[in-house]
Amino acid sequence: MKGIVLAGGTGSRLYPITKGISKHLIPIYDKPMIYYPLSVLMLAGIKEILIISNPEFIDIYKNIFYDGSQLGMDIKYQVQDEPRGLADAFIVGDDFINNEPTALVLGDNVFYGQGFGPVLEEAASLNNGAVIFGYYVKNPEDFGIVEFDENRNVVSLEEKPKNPKSHYAIPGLYFYDKHVTEIAKNLKPSERGELEITDLNKEYLKMGKLRVELLGRGFAWLDTGTADGLASASEFVRIIQKRQGLFIACLEEIAYDKGFIKKDQLLKLAQEHKGTEYGKYLNNLVEE
Ligand code: DAU
Repeated sequence: MKGIVLAGGTGSRLYPITKGISKHLIPIYDKPMIYYPLSVLMLAGIKEILIISNPEFIDIYKNIFYDGSQLGMDIKYQVQDEPRGLADAFIVGDDFINNEPTALVLGDNVFYGQGFGPVLEEAASLNNGAVIFGYYVKNPEDFGIVEFDENRNVVSLEEKPKNPKSHYAIPGLYFYDKHVTEIAKNLKPSERGELEITDLNKEYLKMGKLRVELLGRGFAWLDTGTADGLASASEFVRIIQKRQGLFIACLEEIAYDKGFIKKDQLLKLAQEHKGTEYGKYLNNLVEE
């Protein structure tokens, strides 16, 4: 399975924080926002990644992640020149995807919860159909929504409905089989002129090939779309990290745990962060 991190768009709701910078580089506590969604793909065991961003930001990402080999990964980059919608990621990423199953994570989605790793690995083993997630929220009208019948079968999917039929929002993490690009290419733009991810999911639903996994109430899917959301997400990460002494979305740690890199490489990466809490943490991982 391959993976795409979609980190384009304008982030206009965060203006002026994002004036002149990619919103996905705003720190959530001690690391850039994009670390969190990227860590999710890594936890799923995905090593081949495409980062999609605007023409003006793509080089910044290259300077952060290079070709990914320092993390034992293969990271490629592609420009999306206009925010044509989330499903456009599969068209922009056509060459990268090359007819293989592919996961998409939105560059502004932060997830945290016990047992997430196995859920992700399972989703990433998919060969046929699609896997998306459902998460109970107070404000369903702000998201893509999934409605179930009493047997938990999916009845409908809707993008930001005025009168939502359920409280289950669809987080920005999607796993698809190798047909995703061809399906995306056949979508028509919505009223707001975007290729909607919800319309893509509806196609899989129509074919009877959409699975929705619920993330329970003990799970955190955080909002980073407003100044308040950002501050709360930072506070959340800070509290958990301080309490446990374990870092959330530490890419070097995940690469090491997943066997993407060995001890000597982890030590080398730790050296880059010498004199910081982050560097100390990486060094301790080796000692343990
Ligand atoms: O966060 C989950 C929600 O994400 C889903 O529940 C919705 O179904 C889905 O449509 C999406 O809604 P948003 O309104 O949050 O999407 P937004 O336009 O803010 O874009 C999400 C991320 O993708 C953001 O980091 C910007 C980036 N993006 C967006 C578009 C439309 C791109 O890189 N390119 C694009 O063309």
